[in-house]
Amino acid sequence: MSAQISVLVLHGPNLNLLGLREPQIYGSLTLQEIDSLLLTESVVLGVSVVTQQSNQEGTLIDAIHSSYQQYQGILINAGAYTHTSVAIADALKAVRIPTVEVHLSNIYQRESFRHHSYIAPVAIGQISGFGAQSYCLGLRALVGYLRDNPKL
Ligand code: DQA
Repeated sequence: MSAQISVLVLHGPNLNLLGLREPQIYGSLTLQEIDSLLLTESVVLGVSVVTQQSNQEGTLIDAIHSSYQQYQGILINAGAYTHTSVAIADALKAVRIPTVEVHLSNIYQRESFRHHSYIAPVAIGQISGFGAQSYCLGLRALVGYLRDNPKL
């Protein structure tokens, strides 16, 4: 039997305030509740998931670096860094770990500065606009990809 797939889930800035933060846009679930949905989904999928949130760009980059040879996939909601951070995109490119980008809101329905993602070109794909379900859909898509493309 092959080893269990491990996925690192990274939540970027201000996502620690979910529940309180603009619930009309981001929904009413807290980050802890989203993490527990992901945990339930990971059990169904038979994978392991570790979640981490940071408001610091450098901490997110360090987490991406440390994921090298530790995780098979990364699920990331980089928050506002999605639209600004060449450095996070470069880190993902450097470690070459298959990554799925997720957003709670539909970033294409919002202000034009949210329409561009630095993460998108280095991700397998993006899921945006399904609220907390974006994370579960993203995890399912990532695990499906990893199972279809096992590392040699
Ligand atoms: C977000 C969308 C970003 O534009 C915003 O800055 C966030 C959250 C989302 O999940 O919808 O912090 O990534």
